[in-house]
Amino acid sequence: MSVDFSKPFLVGRELENLRQSLESRRLAGDGPFTKHCHDWLERHYQCSTLLTHSCTAALEMAAMLADLGPGDEVIMPSYTFSSTANAVVLRGACPVFVDVRPETINLDERLLEQALTPRTKAILPVHYAGVACEMDTINAFARQHKLMVIEDAAQAYLCSYKGRALGTLGSLGALSFHESKNIVSGEGGALLINDPALVERAHILREKGTNRTQFLRREVTKYEWLDIGSSYLPSDLIAAVLFAQLQDAETIIARRRDIWAAYHDRLAPLEQAGRLQRPVVPAEAIHNGHIYYIVLPDAATAGNLLAGLRAREIAATTHYVPLHSAPAGRKFCRTAGSMAVTDMIAACLVRLPLHALLDTADIDRVAGAVAEILQGSPTR
Ligand SMILES: Cc1ncc(COP(=O)(O)O)c(C=O)c1O
Repeated sequence: MSVDFSKPFLVGRELENLRQSLESRRLAGDGPFTKHCHDWLERHYQCSTLLTHSCTAALEMAAMLADLGPGDEVIMPSYTFSSTANAVVLRGACPVFVDVRPETINLDERLLEQALTPRTKAILPVHYAGVACEMDTINAFARQHKLMVIEDAAQAYLCSYKGRALGTLGSLGALSFHESKNIVSGEGGALLINDPALVERAHILREKGTNRTQFLRREVTKYEWLDIGSSYLPSDLIAAVLFAQLQDAETIIARRRDIWAAYHDRLAPLEQAGRLQRPVVPAEAIHNGHIYYIVLPDAATAGNLLAGLRAREIAATTHYVPLHSAPAGRKFCRTAGSMAVTDMIAACLVRLPLHALLDTADIDRVAGAVAEILQGSPTR
């Protein structure tokens, strides 16, 4: 492809950090670079943070910390990655899907009531494309019904809602630093722990159910098996790469937001002509330019657009197969109400190439190709 869909941006210090890490011979988890990352993230997020080997791992830890078990239900969108639901299913609990809002593709908070049962234990909103869910309403509902809120902020590093960082608005938040995200360490993630009562147990779950962290802090003389858990901490080599990226995150994200804004400008006439719908970012949300998507009037038009872009060597793509319609979703989960918006979005959404290495000529080329392919296409 001559315009790639996604490409990690390297800030330049990754190799030097890796060299230092290798020479230090402190390669396992919770070494010096992990500490640098923790300090960095805790300064930004103002809450306890633990690096994990993925957002998937952070979500699994969150499901353990929420004490989910058989019979429990967790309300979430179906338009998300398998990891959001898997974390719940792995505990024997049941994801309950509600539809998404057509403007933001985020969990429709007006549908929480219809999904609520005496078994509901938590809500798991996903901030799609780094654009905030309607968190005030979600949190008020959770408070009223004594539910835990776990934010899947995989795509939402450095995003906010009413000035507050995404991932810190519920009890727990999960970030991703996977190669496909804005800030990358290959695989990687973090758990943000906003409820101080959960911090000690989070350390134990992450260290194979042991109090090894206390041992390393010299609070106990030996460590032992105390709880369930797994190995969720990344090698310090991963943290060495991540620390370089975190230090330049603002620059990477500013560049991505500029590209996002350039697409948005160039595609405005097509929206006015009714040929597509552009993303909506509510006034209270600041996003990070993670995804630029457009929604076409029907599935056939979306398919034609994807084929046309591919023929022009432009790597555009769809996104999730909704979990409620996937084999494991049908087996382990249930829906609460219609999934009409989710199904429409799954059929009609196209993501355009977006990474920090795109230049103005690339953006013009992609936007120009979209306009050309959609000439004479159906309108809304
Ligand atoms: C919404 C969402 N949650 C979780 C994940 C899993 O992230 P990771 O690959 O870091 O495990 C992804 C991955 O793309 C995602 O999009």
